[in-house]
Amino acid sequence: MSAQTPEIKRVTTHQLQEMKMRGEKISMLTCYDYSMGRILDAGGIDVLLVGDSASNVIAGHETTLPITLDQMIYHASAVIRAAARAFVVVDLPFGSYQGNSSEALRSAIRIMKESGAHGIKMEGGLEIKESVLRILSAGIPVMGHLGLTPQSIYKFGTYAVRAREADEAKKLEEDAAILQDCGCFGLVLEKIPADLAKKVAANLKIPVIGIGAGPYVDGQVLVTHDMLGINKEFQPRFLRTYSDLHTIMTEAVHGYIKDVKAKDFPGEGEYY
Ligand code: KIV
Repeated sequence: MSAQTPEIKRVTTHQLQEMKMRGEKISMLTCYDYSMGRILDAGGIDVLLVGDSASNVIAGHETTLPITLDQMIYHASAVIRAAARAFVVVDLPFGSYQGNSSEALRSAIRIMKESGAHGIKMEGGLEIKESVLRILSAGIPVMGHLGLTPQSIYKFGTYAVRAREADEAKKLEEDAAILQDCGCFGLVLEKIPADLAKKVAANLKIPVIGIGAGPYVDGQVLVTHDMLGINKEFQPRFLRTYSDLHTIMTEAVHGYIKDVKAKDFPGEGEYY
């Protein structure tokens, strides 16, 4: 008799909702490729975000604006092939949904159809309501993103904390309610005061995932390369690094170069 491998059950939006209701925090990390996806998924992460931060982290651009829909689909397909358990959400990139709701729907459908993603994420509130509704009406789960929305960086002019002023905080609360009423399954709040994030999370029924938004939300997301310490330049206050892969990888590269130069590699048993 062969040993049975236990069936791995995919995390669903319904389960994320239940996690909020029972007070279990949701873990979410960015992911852009297959190998990392295998590690994060096997490690038990609840949600993988194929973020447009790939534009910074993978492609080396200064902002998230240059990444294209085709490039997002390429990254998302690789992550989908790796994820057996995690729910995979993919960012709609800048320029793929701001034009009108038909364009937004077309972009969302391309992501779902060509990558096999489980849902999409969009930045903005009232101004994208029509597009959110249209995408949701096609049966595509949508996650909102408010606060510091990097696709609007040239409007903000800075990556500083958002919604410190009463007016902006009030708009954020209203936008959060709009996104929930539309039917979004979750919301990311980026770089806003912890007290505001706490209020939003308490007022909403849907899960609120924070990045730089304090501890009183329903889950946390970080950029994986930042939390693994691969990227040393980016060290905001909200980031906790769980490894120093920059040093570990640099030492490995130095070791390899040393062995090649010393004619030590390949050695006995390392060739045919
Ligand atoms: O693209 C991204 O990495 C994100 C997270 C910062 C939430 O949107």
